[in-house]
Amino acid sequence: MVSPTFFPTQIAGSLHMTIQTAVLIETLKKLGADVRWCSCNIFSTQDHAAAAIARDESAAVFAWKGETLEEYWECTLNAITWTNPDKFGDGPDMIVDDGGDMTMLIHEGFKAENAYAKDGTVPDPNSTDNAEFKIVLAIIKRTLPIQADKWHKVAKRMMGVSEETTTGVHRLYAMSTAGELLFPAINVNDSVTKSKFDNLYGCKHSLPDGLCRATDVMLAGKRAVICGYGDVGKGCAFAMKAAGCITTVTEIDPICALQAAMEGFSVKTLESQLPTLDLVITTTGNKDIIMSEMMHKMRDNAIVGNIGHFDNEVDMDGLFKKCKRINIKPQVDKFIFPDTGKGIIVLAEGRLMNLGCATGHPSFVMSNSFTNQTLAQLELWKERKSGKYARGKVYTLPKILDEKVAHLHLDALGVTLTELTDSQSSYVDIKKKGPYKPDSYRY
Ligand SMILES: NC(=O)c1ccc[n+]([C@@H]2O[C@H](COP(=O)([O-])OP(=O)(O)OC[C@H]3O[C@@H](n4cnc5c(N)ncnc54)[C@H](O)[C@@H]3O)[C@@H](O)[C@H]2O)c1
Repeated sequence: MVSPTFFPTQIAGSLHMTIQTAVLIETLKKLGADVRWCSCNIFSTQDHAAAAIARDESAAVFAWKGETLEEYWECTLNAITWTNPDKFGDGPDMIVDDGGDMTMLIHEGFKAENAYAKDGTVPDPNSTDNAEFKIVLAIIKRTLPIQADKWHKVAKRMMGVSEETTTGVHRLYAMSTAGELLFPAINVNDSVTKSKFDNLYGCKHSLPDGLCRATDVMLAGKRAVICGYGDVGKGCAFAMKAAGCITTVTEIDPICALQAAMEGFSVKTLESQLPTLDLVITTTGNKDIIMSEMMHKMRDNAIVGNIGHFDNEVDMDGLFKKCKRINIKPQVDKFIFPDTGKGIIVLAEGRLMNLGCATGHPSFVMSNSFTNQTLAQLELWKERKSGKYARGKVYTLPKILDEKVAHLHLDALGVTLTELTDSQSSYVDIKKKGPYKPDSYRY
C-alpha cells in the first residue's frame, strides 16, 4: 500500500474532465500530489465532474463544456502554472497528458525562449494558418517578456509525462526521434489493458451512445462506414454491425483491411460509398479523411462524425466556408450546401463525438486506463533519480504491471483464472505469476 506521503509532487493534467477523470484526480491527490487540471477537448468536460473536483479542492480545475479555442489554451496555461512558485519555478513535476497538447505547449515555449535569448525574437502568430497554433504562439508571445525562462524551468523540473492516447503517443515518438523530447515519457496507450480495452471496447460502447444521444437515429438497416480499422475502428465497426448496420470499412493498411474482411466487413474506398452511406465515422488519427467535396456527394441528412483525437479528420473549414449552418442542438449541426439544398448532420463540430455528444467510455474500461495512468505516474516519481526513465525517451509499462491491471479487474466480472501447474510452468517456461506473454505478443 502506498502511503499518502509517498508522492509529494505537483501534477498537471490535460485529459477529458469527466467523472472517471475525477476519480483519477482524487487518486493522485490521495497519493499526496498537488494537482491542477484542464480538459484536452473543448466539448468533453462534464461540468458536474469539474464542479465536484473544485468543491472538494481535489485539484485546481480549469475546464467547462463548450470552451472557445482561446479559452481552451488559457485553461491549459493555467493548469500548468502554479500560483505559488517554489525555487524550481511555477511548473509541474509530472504531467498526465491526452493527445499531447500540454507537452506541446512546454516544447513550443522552450523553443521560443531559446530564440528570444539568442536575438530577442518573439513568436509570430501570423506565421501559421492553423487557428489553434496561432493561439499557442500568441500565449507564448504574451508570457515571454514577463518570464523568459518559464518553460526552461518547467522542462528541467519535469520528471516525466504519461500519455493517454494513440495520437499523443505518435507525437512523443516523433519528438523523441527528432531528439527534441525534453523529459521522459511513458506511453500508457500501448499498455494492452489500455489500447485493447479503452480504444476497442470503450469506443464500441460510446460510439452508439454518442450517435443515439445526438440523433436518436434508428441504426438497424442503415449503411455505416467506419474509416480506419485500428483499435478504435474495430470497436466502432463491431458496434455498428451489432446494431444492424450494413457496415463498410476503409483502410490504408493491408493487414487491417484483411482483418476487416475476415470479420465480415466489406472494405472499400470512402469515395465509392459516398452516394449511399447513411453515416460515416472517422477513427484514423490521420487528417483530411472526409473533405467537403465528399460531403457534398452524400445523401441528405447523412451523419458525419469523428471519434479520433483531433478535429482535422473532417474538413470543418471547408464546411464552414461553403455551407449554411443550422444548429439543431448543442454539438449537433446541419450543414446545407446552397447549390443542392441538401445537407449533412455533423456531430461535435468534427471533434471526438463520443465525448462531445455523450459522456465518453463507461467507468469500468476507464478504470483499466487510469490504473495504468496511476502506475505510470508512480513509476516516473519512484524512478526519478535512478535513471530508469531517461530524458528524451518513450517507454511502455512493463508487461507484469499490464497483467496486474487486468488482474485487478477480474473479480468485478466474476472471472476465475486457471493457474499453471508446476510442471506446465516449466514445460512452457512461464513463471506461475507471469508475465505470461513476451512483449512482442499482440493479443
Ligand atoms: N474518442 C475516444 O474515446 C478515443 C479513444 C482512444 C483513441 N482515440 C483516438 O482515435 C484515433 C485512432 O486510435 P487507434 O488506437 O485506433 O489508432 P490505430 O493506429 O490503431 O488505428 C488507426 C487506423 O487508421 C488507419 N488509417 C490511417 N489513415 C487512414 C486513411 N486515410 N484511411 C483509412 N484508414 C486510415 C490506420 O492504418 C490504422 O489502422 C487516435 O486519434 C486516438 O488518439 C480516441
